[in-house]
Amino acid sequence: MTPTPPSASPSASTGDTPNLEFTGTTPYEQYVRASVLSHLQQPLSDDPGEMSFLVTTQVMELWFTLLVHEWETAARALRGDDLPAALAALGRSVYELQSLNDSWKPLAHLTPAQFNRYRSALGDASGFQSAMYRRLEFLLGEKSPAMLVPYRHAPAVHAELEKALHEPGLYDEVLRWLARRGHPVPEAVLGRDMAERYTADPGVEAVWLRVYAAEGAEDGAGDAEALRLGETLTEIGELIWRWRNNHLVATRRAMGAKPGTGGSSGVAWLEKRATKSVFPELWTARSHV
Ligand code: HEM
Repeated sequence: MTPTPPSASPSASTGDTPNLEFTGTTPYEQYVRASVLSHLQQPLSDDPGEMSFLVTTQVMELWFTLLVHEWETAARALRGDDLPAALAALGRSVYELQSLNDSWKPLAHLTPAQFNRYRSALGDASGFQSAMYRRLEFLLGEKSPAMLVPYRHAPAVHAELEKALHEPGLYDEVLRWLARRGHPVPEAVLGRDMAERYTADPGVEAVWLRVYAAEGAEDGAGDAEALRLGETLTEIGELIWRWRNNHLVATRRAMGAKPGTGGSSGVAWLEKRATKSVFPELWTARSHV
């Protein structure tokens, strides 16, 4: 039997069916802006398959936007020593990353002929130019001032990215939080130039090693909260690695070893990007536990 839904308040409805009369646009439209979203698709070719490529790309942009929001929320919470709020945001982001990765489905099996039907219409456009993806990568520590160059003539986007370049990333805030809890994170790492790519540090590896080695220790030597944070970050790192690899395989299937529309060598360039570890010491410390 279908459970009976809670009844609507008398002012919201006159019977057991939804309201049909609104004085202006619907409250749903005011909130969701669905008509704006569904009018943002302007395919460049006559190929009916291009809509799938365009909408999937736009959907991924929305996931990128949400992930940036979650990780900025988590970074802020860590800065304020509010671990529950940080873990809540990071936990949401794990589910969102899973959905982002599931979004590859419509594009994961394109044949070269199918992709070619609209590829030339894309001109020089490439996901490489996605400013939101770049912010996401900056938050993960993959910083690079050179990545600002494509936005030199788009001042608002450039300013946002430049701010993100110089701000501590999510992992920087994690390491500062660990240091405030008494873990011996090296000073050089805490005071590093935030605009530089984060590189693995043996002192940070030693911190994670201590946290992981003490898992379940009965003498109170463990730091269960740091371990929980470490595992949530590991999950995020793995899902990002999966996104990069899903992208790599979809690209290999759709265009083989041809150069990318953004001017790179294509698959060979993406392969190098896909091997990078997010939160590197969380992976290497495991070898020593
Ligand atoms: C089958 C479809 C796709 C192909 C063949 C493809 C191909 C490529 C290639 C060759 C590059 C390297 C840069 C270049 O020279 O263009 C690239 C980069 C990139 N693409 Fe795609 N792509 C596809 C789908 C997507 C989708 C749906 C997104 C979602 C927004 C996306 C986002 C990106 C991003 C963010 C980069 C930069 C990666 C980085 O900086 O490490 N791509 N893509």
